[in-house]
Amino acid sequence: MDSEQRSEIIRELKKNLEGLKDSGLTHLPRAKKTALPKKLEAIRETIGDCTRCKLHQGRTKIVFGVGNPNAKLMFIGEGPGHDEDLQGEPFVGRAGQLLTKIIEAMGLKRSDVYIANTVKCRPPNNRAPEPDEIETCSPFLIQQVQAIQPQIIVTLGNPATQTLLGTQQGITLLRGHFHDWNGIQLMPTYHPAFLLRNPHMKKPVWEDMQKVMAKLGLRKM
Ligand code: URA
Repeated sequence: MDSEQRSEIIRELKKNLEGLKDSGLTHLPRAKKTALPKKLEAIRETIGDCTRCKLHQGRTKIVFGVGNPNAKLMFIGEGPGHDEDLQGEPFVGRAGQLLTKIIEAMGLKRSDVYIANTVKCRPPNNRAPEPDEIETCSPFLIQQVQAIQPQIIVTLGNPATQTLLGTQQGITLLRGHFHDWNGIQLMPTYHPAFLLRNPHMKKPVWEDMQKVMAKLGLRKM
């Protein structure tokens, strides 16, 4: 489109908006804000009281996801642990507290971002989710991402990263670079639970988050 065409579109838009104002319209409705929570609610309703995989047998609560339905930034973990299973909210235990610290160090609040997991029910004894469980549950995660349409996804650890990117490659190779996920920038990084066991790995995670912040315009690199 050349600049003359752009100017013509702007002139037309102005004319239309002035026409609407003359007919008494004082503001334009914000369609996106009301539509998005509805989409998430619909996904939650589809999940229902899920028994699609064996993880339902040991769960207390389904952990759907939490945060801003219009978030520019979405974090995706592995699966609920003990605390998350009891409270029905992702990342509220020790690893979650570290994730909250990371989010706040980025200049954001937990309520600014959206947080979800690869599987929505707690795997027994905190084991990693198994391939059949991921296959059953991850379509709901994909629907959540499609509803939210974040600018950036941060995947935390192997299961989330490998599920979204459809690869067997490990997090050590994949982290630190943006990957394309259906037009959304995806940054893999280490899981906060791994950081609790390996505090010296906080530095690379912070480097990854600085790249995310730069893309979001939160900080110049
Ligand atoms: N670890 C995860 O991957 N997700 C949670 O919600 C909590 C811990």
